[in-house]
Amino acid sequence: MSLPNVILIIKGLRKVFEGSPPLVALENIDLDIYEGEFLCIVGPSGCGKTTLLRVIAGLEKPTDGEVLLRGRPILGPGPDRVMVFQEHTLFPWRTVLGNVMFGLELKGIPKDKALEAANSYIRLVGLEGFEHMYPHELSGGMRQRVAIARALACDPEMLLMDEPFSALDAQSRNYMQRELMEIWSKTGKTVVFVTHNVEEAIYLGDRIAVLTYRPARLRDVISIELPRPRDRLGQEFIELRAKVLGILKEEMEKAINQKLKPETPRRGKVKP
Ligand SMILES: Nc1ncnc2c1ncn2[C@@H]1O[C@H](COP(=O)(O)OP(=O)(O)OP(=O)(O)O)[C@@H](O)[C@H]1O
Ligand SMILES: [Mg+2]
Repeated sequence: MSLPNVILIIKGLRKVFEGSPPLVALENIDLDIYEGEFLCIVGPSGCGKTTLLRVIAGLEKPTDGEVLLRGRPILGPGPDRVMVFQEHTLFPWRTVLGNVMFGLELKGIPKDKALEAANSYIRLVGLEGFEHMYPHELSGGMRQRVAIARALACDPEMLLMDEPFSALDAQSRNYMQRELMEIWSKTGKTVVFVTHNVEEAIYLGDRIAVLTYRPARLRDVISIELPRPRDRLGQEFIELRAKVLGILKEEMEKAINQKLKPETPRRGKVKP
């Protein structure tokens, strides 16, 4: 069996937000991400998940350490990494088709080619027939599909998803998870998916990276070997869920204890 290629290397990553006192969001994170994998990131609220995603997107610079995409340091955002956010960020004045066309227009792709590509992504996310509707005419799940189609239309190497389904009701969320698995298996993109929801992470991920409470360190990386589509009621699924929830509970307890202690002012650099 051939080993998967590493697409992204995170080495000794540390991110401090300046201020008084400075806030250490990420501490000494080492993680390799494989080409084509679906990696989920979970961690207590406010620990640094979005910050990690933003560093990969090139929207935040590491304070220390490095992040290498195919061996090259990430110097800023690029069309090879596209983010999908929790809140829909569609252009309200553009139709579904207009939104999906956006990235293609930026790339300067000729209109007929762009139309063809946009329509194929709209089909892929199951929105055929809705091309000419505006975001306000769509359900939350449909809007997130448009956001996914728009991201895919840029043909990125990596899709960076920050709790994209957390605003949806449970039923729509499960449905979108199934759809996302189909889309991922058809496109073969590398996906980094941040979620609060452990069940979602186990349903979707090849691996789950579990972060500690702030500063976020990498506490564990758990491989999910279960065949897809995954049975949420299966024994192994339930056991994995309990395992990850157990780790998160420990981290949340640490967070609560930390908050009960008086704040000690931090001077200079915080030791790793
Ligand atoms: N631009 C910034 N400037 C200063 N502090 C920031 C900035 N961005 C994030 N932080 C802080 O860094 C920490 C981690 O934030 P981040 O948004 O990455 O957490 P998260 O795990 O995504 O949280 P949530 O679970 O609520 O989405 C928080 O304490 C936050 O206040
Ligand atoms: Mg976040």
